Amino acid sequence: MSKKIITLHVNGKDREVMIDERESLYETLRNELNLTSVKKGCEVGECGACSVLLNGRCVDSCIYLTMWAVGKDIVTVEGLRDEENDDITDVQKEFIKEAAVQCGFCTPGFILKAVEIVGHNKPYTRDEIKKLITGNLCRCTGYMNIVTAIEHAIKHNMDKLGVPYEVMPSTTSFDVPEDEKDKMLESLLAMQNNDVTKI
Ligand code: FES
Ligand code: FES
Repeated sequence: MSKKIITLHVNGKDREVMIDERESLYETLRNELNLTSVKKGCEVGECGACSVLLNGRCVDSCIYLTMWAVGKDIVTVEGLRDEENDDITDVQKEFIKEAAVQCGFCTPGFILKAVEIVGHNKPYTRDEIKKLITGNLCRCTGYMNIVTAIEHAIKHNMDKLGVPYEVMPSTTSFDVPEDEKDKMLESLLAMQNNDVTKI
């Protein structure tokens, strides 16, 4: 087994890690850097639970060698932040508002996919959003809430860009009780702070 010390740029910081050259980025992020928002799902690139952003694009880290990520900008949910407002991002807020979280296992992957989609700066239709998220699977099947949350996050971005964008009337929207919203926020913040006792 060939071990090597490399430097990865993760969530805005350089991190030195010793890796087996054959190990996946998923294994390094989770086992060496304790970034537990990166989930182990199918391990064959089908479910998106292990998604991370690499230079702004979502990649299934279970089928991506750590060696390939050297020199790239890696972002996990722990690194998401609205720096301007010192807050969680619009995407995370909309996932809470639309109750787009059930068991939460798929949530980090969907949130990163949504961040990538919003970053395209395009006024995607609902059908286009559905196609864009086909690489992410939710075992709790909460897809409509997820799509609605992404539409609202796109709307925030389009408003900033001055582009008209209409959010389709939701067939699933309902008022989420405040205490449920608090629990979701606590869970997302725990993920952000890598507090594994609350995830
Ligand atoms: S665990 Fe990587 S795609 Fe499913
Ligand atoms: S919320 Fe449970 S897998 Fe998606």
